[in-house]
Amino acid sequence: MRKKIAAANWKMNCTFQQGEKLIDEILEANIELKDHQHAIFAVPYPYLLMARSEVEEERNYDVAAQNCYHKKSGAYTGEVSAEMIHSLGVRYCVIGHSERREYFQETNEILMEKVNLCLENYIIPIFCCGEPLNIREAGTQNEYVGKQLKDSLFHLSADKIKDIIIAYEPIWAIGTGKTATSAQAQEMHHFLRSVITEKYGEPVANEISILYGGSVKANNASELFACPDVDGGLVGGASLVSTDFIEIIKALP
Ligand code: 13P
Repeated sequence: MRKKIAAANWKMNCTFQQGEKLIDEILEANIELKDHQHAIFAVPYPYLLMARSEVEEERNYDVAAQNCYHKKSGAYTGEVSAEMIHSLGVRYCVIGHSERREYFQETNEILMEKVNLCLENYIIPIFCCGEPLNIREAGTQNEYVGKQLKDSLFHLSADKIKDIIIAYEPIWAIGTGKTATSAQAQEMHHFLRSVITEKYGEPVANEISILYGGSVKANNASELFACPDVDGGLVGGASLVSTDFIEIIKALP
């Protein structure tokens, strides 16, 4: 069975103390994750070690960085490399979130470099893709999102790509309260899986978890996660409220 994942993306929110309390409250719910279920906290860099030690004893709870730099090392003041993240014992990294694509001009080519550096450093990329509203309105979202995947991931061997997590996050649904319908999510996830099938074959495509992101809430998570090609969620706002994120983890099939 494919991994089903509830991933929290805190973005630039929470003080250290608030973040620690948030994780504590979520873990206190004592949700026992099954073998195929995972909960991941993508926290700001300065909180990675704290978060990692919080989840250390917990089965299938993990931590992710929200970004890494696209160069190996060197004179890039203020940046954080994949190797540094790995050296903290962190196993996941969000790559290519739409906010980074938009505000930091991250291109598909730069994201390819980041994916490579993550894999070289034993870090599983949570690779984000998704179309803006004008593309959705023009009806060309499949071509747009398919190209994001092809440009940044399709240089990988089957053996490498099968471990990557993909997060489809339509930009018009992020932070807007306007969730994609489960039919829209399923349609895109199915399309992405078919694009991967074309290139790598069905067994590989069937192994890759594809998460949905964009206004996932406690009250819509079950319906979204029940779609056959939706393997969980990447959650922003609702991951900052412990009671909400607890419900979202519980909604994992
Ligand atoms: P919201 O859940 O706040 O819409 O954010 C989604 C997101 O961007 C997760 O990465």
